[in-house]
Amino acid sequence: MNAKDFLTIKDFSPAEIQYLLTLGRQVKTHPTTYSETLKRKTLAMIFEKPSLRTRVSFDVGIQQLGGFSIYLSPAEINLGKRESVYDVAKNLERMVQGIMIRTFAHEIVEQMAEYADIPVINGLTDYSHPCQALADYMTMWEAFGKLQGLKIAYVGDGNNVAHSLMFTGAQAGAHVWVATPPGYEPKADAARWASERGRETGATCTVTNDPQEAVSGADVVYTDVWASMGQEAETAKRKQIFAPFQVNQELFQRARNGAIFLHCLPAHRGEEVTADVIDSPRSLVFQQAENRLHAQKAIMIELMKGEFVKLPDLAELRELAHV
Ligand code: CP
Ligand code: NVA
Repeated sequence: MNAKDFLTIKDFSPAEIQYLLTLGRQVKTHPTTYSETLKRKTLAMIFEKPSLRTRVSFDVGIQQLGGFSIYLSPAEINLGKRESVYDVAKNLERMVQGIMIRTFAHEIVEQMAEYADIPVINGLTDYSHPCQALADYMTMWEAFGKLQGLKIAYVGDGNNVAHSLMFTGAQAGAHVWVATPPGYEPKADAARWASERGRETGATCTVTNDPQEAVSGADVVYTDVWASMGQEAETAKRKQIFAPFQVNQELFQRARNGAIFLHCLPAHRGEEVTADVIDSPRSLVFQQAENRLHAQKAIMIELMKGEFVKLPDLAELRELAHV
């Protein structure tokens, strides 16, 4: 793998995604092997939206690899207003060895990656959530021992999480069904890309407005909040529109016996999912959340493992300075 950045699952080959998933599982079972892999390296974490899982898993993850993190909230950077993306990138590349960024427009993450000479990791944009998808497929692999041929039904909003689920399913040879209300489908380019990549891997991607059809015989039933971060003003309207897309027992029972339930979290019980589904033994949402840690350690290892600038030899410096 020779990628500098981790911006979207689409940037990688099926084999590279398989490799990252394998490394994630290896890191999970043998964490101490990697406890010095990123020794003294620092990850800057830029958050323009709230977070629990992404912040904690990157922070803990880099520490478990021997490094450090710096949390930069909207108040510190105020990206694009207090300081341009270009200037932030050019400053940070002088001081840290990697940037994780959670923001709104996907273009901001692309610009950051273009301007910074250090790895940039997408911690969620309005378009995609690739770190989440790696953890999702790691969880499915643990549950079923394979990814090829699984039927994955995503029910709800055709959002960032849906896009990354579609991309990764296409890379892994899975059959991803996305059921949304009319007008809330995933972006057409995302569905097109997933179908095209699927021709190489045996995957399919089907977008429908029928949740029952999507969930029928599925191995995995997945949902996400109806109003994403930045869409708070639409919450009441969306609650009405999305009501028939709630993952409840009646819908979940259409999946095959032994199906699992996944949710990227945060979840709103009684809205996109009922408590009797998310809190049932079929739900692996906390294993899925934990896998964020392992999957992202794999990403950081792969992107940030390169040579680190060595500390100057102090004796040599003193001699040069005659002190
Ligand atoms: N799933 C996820 O990304 O959670 P946070 O928004 O809490 O980081
Ligand atoms: N679609 C959600 C995912 C949160 C992890 C959002 O963007 O708010």
